[in-house]
Amino acid sequence: MMESVQQTITRVSQELNCSPTSRRLAEHLDRHDELQKLLTLYDPTYITKYIKEELEKWATIGVHGHLKGSRPWAWAEETLEELMAKIVGAKPEEVALMNGLTVNLHLLMLSFYKPTPKRYKILLEDMAFPSDHYAIESQIRLRGQDVTDSMLIITPRQGDDTIRTEDIVSVIEREGDAIALVMLSGVQYYTGQLFNMEAITRAGHTKGCLVGFDCAHAVGNAELQLHDWNVDFACWCSYKYVNSGAGGLAGAYIHEKHAHSVKPTLMGWWGHNLKTRFLMNNEMELQPGVNGFRLSNQPVLLVCPLQASLEVRHHTQRGCQLSLCFSRPIRTVFQELEKRGVYVFRVIYNSFESGSANQNQAPELSTL
Ligand SMILES: Cc1ncc(COP(=O)(O)O)c(C=O)c1O
Repeated sequence: MMESVQQTITRVSQELNCSPTSRRLAEHLDRHDELQKLLTLYDPTYITKYIKEELEKWATIGVHGHLKGSRPWAWAEETLEELMAKIVGAKPEEVALMNGLTVNLHLLMLSFYKPTPKRYKILLEDMAFPSDHYAIESQIRLRGQDVTDSMLIITPRQGDDTIRTEDIVSVIEREGDAIALVMLSGVQYYTGQLFNMEAITRAGHTKGCLVGFDCAHAVGNAELQLHDWNVDFACWCSYKYVNSGAGGLAGAYIHEKHAHSVKPTLMGWWGHNLKTRFLMNNEMELQPGVNGFRLSNQPVLLVCPLQASLEVRHHTQRGCQLSLCFSRPIRTVFQELEKRGVYVFRVIYNSFESGSANQNQAPELSTL
């Protein structure tokens, strides 16, 4: 069995005869860390290179950049979907890169949330990310349903920080006939809980519910098998563990089983078959599945950082989320951290040394 991180730290610090929080241990672990090379790959060299290529194209060939170069603007993002699909455990045709996360969540719910008088509730977790909460609330309102009655919010048991899978499954078993949509996070942004997506999807399907996940904090972090788990739909942003930079191109997934039955409510020309899209004949030839949900041409300047990041991810993967609970107000904790030169939102890759105690330098951290 593989040694846990804690076991490694204890073992190596004993071997070196030093404290588990010492700089000596951290430096030793860094020297033997096979992922060290990622630090250099994560530097913005490739992002800068790719963006320069596009600016150069714009300066020299103008509108012809749509069809020319290594990243033709007309289908630039499509070349990345295979890499992204591997990260979320999906088939390339089940994934589209487009828009921002909340926009994708809305587009998906517009097609997957079709309440009926008997089945109209959406199950979500307590303390869902505000944007998800508002998106769900407004979708319910859009369908003329009562918000309080339709938002079924599941909370942890008293004294627990996370929600037990058995509790989620039992709510679904109990209330499933009235649930149209189970809409949870993959990894809860606040508690870091990794939801058992497979078990939840199975429970939802058994009761005839559709099941979607917001994978913002799971993608590139936790192992995902959206296709095999039979998840109906999912969405995510690319600026957390996929590291594409704030406001980067987001992702959407729809299981292939829905490719011909679930249609987009809103259509745009990017949902049209690429081969005939530019005939401009106003006869929609909708692409099947999630690709039919695409509306606009993608901003190529957002494709560049995502490409650079996905190419790095392709080399190897390691993810984690550390959620900390403080007994003091979080503002004080941030102030104290900032005094010590630490500005952290999310650690994508950092060395053992940068995470070790006795720091007097700002660690190398990728932020939100
Ligand atoms: C879980 C979750 N949902 C939604 C959002 C909102 O994303 P966006 O602003 O890209 O729509 C975030 C952003 O951090 C998030 O973490």
